[in-house]
Amino acid sequence: MAEGLSRSYGSLEIFTDVDLAIDRGSKVVILGLNGAGKTTLLRILAGIDDPDTGKVLPGHGAKLGYYAQEHETLDVERSVLANMKSAAPDLDETETRKVLGSFLFSGDDVLKSASVLSGGEKTRLALAMLVVSAANVLLLDEPTNNLDPASRAEVLDALRRYEGAVILVSHDEGAVAALEPERVLLLPDGVEDHWNADYQDLISLA
Ligand SMILES: Nc1ncnc2c1ncn2[C@@H]1O[C@H](COP(=O)(O)OP(=O)(O)O)[C@@H](O)[C@H]1O
Ligand SMILES: [Mg+2]
Repeated sequence: MAEGLSRSYGSLEIFTDVDLAIDRGSKVVILGLNGAGKTTLLRILAGIDDPDTGKVLPGHGAKLGYYAQEHETLDVERSVLANMKSAAPDLDETETRKVLGSFLFSGDDVLKSASVLSGGEKTRLALAMLVVSAANVLLLDEPTNNLDPASRAEVLDALRRYEGAVILVSHDEGAVAALEPERVLLLPDGVEDHWNADYQDLISLA
């Protein structure tokens, strides 16, 4: 749950007094133009940045998983495999490689340094890390950008099946359709509403 969140950068007010309640397993989409504060809000919800006012109250048993638009959660000093191990230390190497395989990393790919990966490969690695983590609340910041059609289809499928809660930022109509959101949060206004078909047209514009 988040209450009364506000954030400015210098004299630039990004959003003011945003409230948000995420029920167990619920799906919410955040829509807003470039610069509306979507990434800023997700970073605050993820606990990476602090709001100027308001607070985030994590629910009992909630385990957050954050997919960063610019992939800053990846450790570029380390390999694909080592990044996966940091996300799921208890998973053995065979299992880890199996998940990586489903995200189209095979053989020696997993030994590559994260620093040399393409945008699409970084996206796939970051999503694979979320899959093996024990997260039950996903904060996803434009997770289908940079993906080739086959990888995008896999991600949409995973979104469709995911049983935990998801807060999705996306300009991708297919990704929002796959999520089947119950609610929408509009930025920068902070208006929350039930999802309806009129919002579908806003996705690619926003
Ligand atoms: N660290 C920062 N310092 C100053 N301005 C920032 C910083 N981070 C983001 N901004 C500004 O805040 C606004 C919202 O950014 P962002 O949350 O990334 O928007 P969105 O993800 O909706 O495109 C933009 O105008 C951006 O330039
Ligand atoms: Mg953004």
